Amino acid sequence: MGKKPEANDRVVVLKGLTKRFGNTVVLDGITLSFEKGKTTVIIGPSGCGKTVLIKHIIVLLRPSAGEVYFHNQRIDNLNEKELESVRTQMGFLFQGGALFDSFTVYENIIFPVKQHTDIHDKKKLDEIVRTKLAMVGMDGFQDYYPASLSGGQKKRVALARAVALNPEVILYDEPTTGLDPIRADIINELILKTQKELGITSIVVTHDMNSASKIGDRIVMLHNGKILLEGDAETIKNSKLPEVQRFIKGEISDTDLQSMQISFEDIKSDEKK
Ligand SMILES: Nc1ncnc2c1ncn2[C@@H]1O[C@H](COP(=O)(O)OP(=O)(O)OP(=O)(O)O)[C@@H](O)[C@H]1O
Ligand SMILES: [Mg+2]
Repeated sequence: MGKKPEANDRVVVLKGLTKRFGNTVVLDGITLSFEKGKTTVIIGPSGCGKTVLIKHIIVLLRPSAGEVYFHNQRIDNLNEKELESVRTQMGFLFQGGALFDSFTVYENIIFPVKQHTDIHDKKKLDEIVRTKLAMVGMDGFQDYYPASLSGGQKKRVALARAVALNPEVILYDEPTTGLDPIRADIINELILKTQKELGITSIVVTHDMNSASKIGDRIVMLHNGKILLEGDAETIKNSKLPEVQRFIKGEISDTDLQSMQISFEDIKSDEKK
């Protein structure tokens, strides 16, 4: 039995988190805590609610039931103004990178700094941008626009922006998706580096089992709105659960296949109309 984390080691806690959209239950009573300085990876099939889950951690979505805590403070019921100070302590790397296209790399990185702090001194801002870009190997790209960067470079700039305020927690939504294996591995290394050098608590959503095993202290697999399995990479790989094995091997289940055939037939019959 591992040592149970002390309450103050837990940076983020989800208690019975349930989210419904209309009649669809996406998250069904998820209870999870995230320990200081550790990297938790959340995996699961497309549409299982991974993005919805991490959006609750910065309260971009509000639970239908259950609670979200940041350092023992309940945050899911705070108003937007009260959430500001919580959000400055969390960096968020959106699915797809999401840099502001009309801003240069420099402007992208100082955006959260200007929004959430009183720092306006040009020298200080230059220094923040330089150190954050250097960390991701992109110093010198300050005046580039996102359109002239590769996919991997954009993710690195997005990571530099996410750490601009020295957050305690970073939430990464699919940081390696769409990158070739080498560029994906650069991102893995950067996530490891933020953990080692900055002591950041990371919560990473991914489809990529290689990335999950490399960076995760713990992997949590979601399925049908619930936690199917939780453990280290070995636990996941050795699991006999068919859903887990199918996920690792990238195989579709018979039920999913059947439901897809139904929808293919619906499409065909629609096309005939
Ligand atoms: N704002 C919303 N309104 C209604 N339904 C939503 C909303 N956001 C997400 N959903 C639904 O919730 C479910 C989970 O979505 P989510 O984006 O969390 O999936 P995911 O696990 O991140 O998938 P992927 O791996 O493809 O990114 C989906 O069925 C989606 O359609
Ligand atoms: Mg998603």
